[in-house]
Amino acid sequence: MRPPLQEGASTTLAHKFSSLTFTDSVKDVQREMGSRPANEKLTERGSPNDTFGEFEKDFVSRRDGFYISTVGETGWPYIQFRGGPPGFLKVVDDHTLAYADVTGNRQYISSGNLRSNPRAALFLMDYPHQARLKILGTTELIPWKDAPAWKDQLLLPERARPERVVLIHLAAFDWNCPQHIPQRWTVDELKQTPIFKHIESLEAEVKRLRNELAARATGTEITGKDKIAAST
Ligand SMILES: Cc1cc2nc3c(=O)[nH]c(=O)nc-3n(C[C@H](O)[C@H](O)[C@H](O)COP(=O)(O)O)c2cc1C
Repeated sequence: MRPPLQEGASTTLAHKFSSLTFTDSVKDVQREMGSRPANEKLTERGSPNDTFGEFEKDFVSRRDGFYISTVGETGWPYIQFRGGPPGFLKVVDDHTLAYADVTGNRQYISSGNLRSNPRAALFLMDYPHQARLKILGTTELIPWKDAPAWKDQLLLPERARPERVVLIHLAAFDWNCPQHIPQRWTVDELKQTPIFKHIESLEAEVKRLRNELAARATGTEITGKDKIAAST
């Protein structure tokens, strides 16, 4: 489940994510903490990470939610969660994502922030595989009524009313290491795991044994067809 290194990892192309995020203040802290040389090397020699590869596209397509961070005119950062069926965050091409923003609490903090500063950070979690993808992008908001071409292309959360299309033009992405990501599963994900199959087989066995005990208590012997029925 480890993300592959992108082409260009060994060339002189800069690691775009750190070029954008390692500001002078960030570099100062890195110097104070002794990590500047390693981070300088990352910036100079790391994968460019400015184009989605197959691994990233597949990862994005499987997500049923993500966090989006924006910055308002007051300078305060803001984070919201967006959820929907897997694929609702659509991979449009190697550099673009899109999703339908739906009616919520009608505060419009994310939309308003993006109007004054179109830059956003996305945080995509895969808890079962302990992976997370960070994406920086410039957004474009299109009112739903002006985006008829998107109507059939974007998946919506259940019972949701779309208000706008949010396009995210990729600036850079980066993967985090799995450390400290707790493993957790949604109910649907849990159903696909061996643990769930094991629980199902244990439940069936408990049911069969209960039926056998009940039958013994009443002196009835379970045989043939009844035995099969009792074990299902
Ligand atoms: C009826 C309703 C009430 C909501 N109340 C809240 C709330 O109190 N706090 C919150 O963070 N999100 C709440 N949400 C979810 C947000 O409305 C939703 O995430 C929305 O997209 C936020 O948009 P914004 O980030 O542009 O402000 C609510 C959603 C609905 C449908």
